[in-house]
Amino acid sequence: MGGLRVCGPGSDGIVDVGSGAGEDLGVAMIHDRGGSVARGIGVTGPSWRVSASSFVGRSHELSTLSSLLLSQCRLVSLIGPGGAGKTRLASEWIGLRLDELVGFVELSALPDTSLLMVTVLGACGISERPGTDPLERAVEVLAERDGVLVLDTCEHLRDAIVGTVVVLLRRCASLRVLVTSRVSLGIPSETVVPVAGLGGDAHALFLDRARQVQPDLAVDDGIIRTICELADGLPLAIELAAAHARALPLADIHSGMANRLGFLTGLASVGEPRHRSLEASIGWSYQLLDSTARGALRALSVFPGRFTLDAAVAVIGRLGRELVEQLVDHSLVLFSPRDERYVLLDTIREFAARECSASGEAEVTGRRVLPP
Ligand SMILES: Nc1ncnc2c1ncn2[C@@H]1O[C@H](COP(=O)(O)OP(=O)(O)OP(=O)(O)O)[C@@H](O)[C@H]1O
Ligand SMILES: [Mg+2]
Repeated sequence: MGGLRVCGPGSDGIVDVGSGAGEDLGVAMIHDRGGSVARGIGVTGPSWRVSASSFVGRSHELSTLSSLLLSQCRLVSLIGPGGAGKTRLASEWIGLRLDELVGFVELSALPDTSLLMVTVLGACGISERPGTDPLERAVEVLAERDGVLVLDTCEHLRDAIVGTVVVLLRRCASLRVLVTSRVSLGIPSETVVPVAGLGGDAHALFLDRARQVQPDLAVDDGIIRTICELADGLPLAIELAAAHARALPLADIHSGMANRLGFLTGLASVGEPRHRSLEASIGWSYQLLDSTARGALRALSVFPGRFTLDAAVAVIGRLGRELVEQLVDHSLVLFSPRDERYVLLDTIREFAARECSASGEAEVTGRRVLPP
């Protein structure tokens, strides 16, 4: 396929599609000034949108994605904590390769699996066929396609997505799948690419977002660096902190971060509900845990820094190892294989500690807090 000219983020978002795109399948590509693009077979709908804000860093992750998805790898999952930038990374990568785009399926607003396949069909621009199972319909069309299907925000629908992905990869020989999720799919063909905080690039993100709301920002690099560290380098937390620059000096944003959960709330009720505050973002992951795993997370808030598996088992009690693994799987606990230690991001520890005291467990934390 050829003939694509794409104006990237920061432009007016026009995606211009030349002739020849998808001729083999009678696929039409549509373009509009809202910056959405979709290929349609019978039906077209928005599938991928150019982001309005600037993108910083992630060059290493972008090239990792290219080397994986443009070679042998057919299933790649961007996995990391809430607000780490998984969706944005997937979106930027596919934005550089729109000729590969099969569909960008946004699943965060889907409360359950009943509309999963219909949503996938819609995002791929495939019309439903009455009497045909939507998954069969997807296989029928996607078996002819050579490209990347992006499944964005999968953690709350994991089991159904696993089933769908297994079928699609088995029956659509040239299809590749890029997943974003806080929890990996856990299937053998999956290659996980971890998405962590922004590190040194966090500073540029804060500066950009703060200047958007406060062009006269009095820059103090030291304070900005500290704010970014307190935000764990998470782009969502940094954006929420930077939004305060409209009305607060940097020093007050810094002191506000002493109570991150209370301070990092959206000033406008726009965007996805779980991105309107740091608390909502972590709460989304917390809600996906069963009560035993929630108890284990609360118990681990006793550790101010890194801890060993033995120490974790000592405070969690029964099923300690399994629960630690589950929490790592949910991106709520980070594992460092180099020193074989675990750690909670500060923001997650603060959330877990608050839940711990709210549930009346605080006084027994440090001992076993779960039933033996
Ligand atoms: N590298 C980046 N440069 C600029 N902005 C970024 C970057 N990464 C993320 N962001 C911004 O940070 C916010 C959160 O990012 P994103 O939605 O990608 O997080 P996520 O990891 O997908 O979160 P969730 O787990 O809730 O789905 C968004 O507003 C996004 O545009
Ligand atoms: Mg996301």
